Amino acid sequence: MNLAVDQNRLVAEIEELAAISEAEPPVVTRIVFSAADLLARAWLVGRCEKAGLAVRQDAIGNIFARWTGSEAAAPAVGTGSHIDAIPNAGKYDGVVGVLGGLEAIRSLERVGFCPKHSIELLVFTSEEPTRFGIGCLGSRLLSGAMTPEAAGKLSDKDGASLEEVRRNAGYQAPLRDVKLRDGYYKAFVELHIEQGPLLEEQKVPLGIVTSIAAPASLRFTIGGAGGHAGAVLMPERRDALCAASELILAIENAAKTSGAVDTVATVGICDVFPGAVNSIPSRVHLTLDIRDTDLGRRDAGMRAIGTAQKTIAAKRQVSIEEEIVNADAPAQCAPLIVEALSEACRKHGLASIEMVSRAYHDSLFMSRVAPVAMLFIPCRNGYSHRPDEYASPEDIGRGVLVLAETLAALAG
Ligand code: GLV
Ligand code: MN
Ligand code: MN
Repeated sequence: MNLAVDQNRLVAEIEELAAISEAEPPVVTRIVFSAADLLARAWLVGRCEKAGLAVRQDAIGNIFARWTGSEAAAPAVGTGSHIDAIPNAGKYDGVVGVLGGLEAIRSLERVGFCPKHSIELLVFTSEEPTRFGIGCLGSRLLSGAMTPEAAGKLSDKDGASLEEVRRNAGYQAPLRDVKLRDGYYKAFVELHIEQGPLLEEQKVPLGIVTSIAAPASLRFTIGGAGGHAGAVLMPERRDALCAASELILAIENAAKTSGAVDTVATVGICDVFPGAVNSIPSRVHLTLDIRDTDLGRRDAGMRAIGTAQKTIAAKRQVSIEEEIVNADAPAQCAPLIVEALSEACRKHGLASIEMVSRAYHDSLFMSRVAPVAMLFIPCRNGYSHRPDEYASPEDIGRGVLVLAETLAALAG
């Protein structure tokens, strides 16, 4: 099989998709079910159909584009990622796995490969948590990690429910139809940019992911007492933002003192009420994102934050309420797929290393219903979730080549 990736077309497609954005180039912002996201989906479906794939979409908007194999009833081999993008993002996060997955399929079509198992490109809805506060909506529902009832309770910051938003986007079927039946996939492989610096630093073109770190996120509401910024003297104050500041530092400290660099914790949102220059903050909302490769250590970090939260609340006479949005287990990749990826690298004379994914991905949830693994390519300076995110055409091409070879090996 003389596989060849059409790198130029793929890069042109990545640029074309990046232009479908809510923000001015080079910034990509594509929040799930926004006008830009809907346009991007339609564009992508067109590309898949042009490649001869049979496209279907489920009730949450996951897109499945299938190349039917000679044993059509056998479990499929899946690949894919997401095309939604956080505010102020770049062009490659998720997109490399989607358009790269499509190009991997096209490259196999070009050489006349005939799969036994169907090969399916899967584009997940809302990998990013921006709109509904929780990431991987599509894969959580596909894998049963989230129930349709729990999804039914989600709403965005404007109060629009997921139900209403998805129906307006044209997805009408009941959410209970989304869960995949047992054995739907024989294997699932996700190609992604690394989103960290290791491959670039080590000058290795490919990373084979053996496990995905355990993410959790929480929301805190801190309630103090508001009042006039001139008239209320300092001894009388119960300033919610001052308490929140202590909590943020306690969160940082919990991660820094966990005993391992693998614990990371971030407060990315801080909403202050009433948000006026001359008014003492009476209420603050914070979000916490905490992750670790080790579940026990991640949970110990969460407990340490809980203790600090009580101390701060008592000391500052404020209330601090917490809500756990998600606390997920890590995922182990399937040795069979890890080996298939290594073999594909060897076959093409490409160096690879095994690594852990510190970012979460839909593969974290797909691992609950299918054997999974991931393939990483380098991204410049390890930058991701920012507009200057960049992966070179050559690195993308190598990733797609190895992905195509692996899909062929798995699909038989
Ligand atoms: C995914 O975007 C993550 O935050 O890891
Ligand atoms: Mn992302
Ligand atoms: Mn991603």
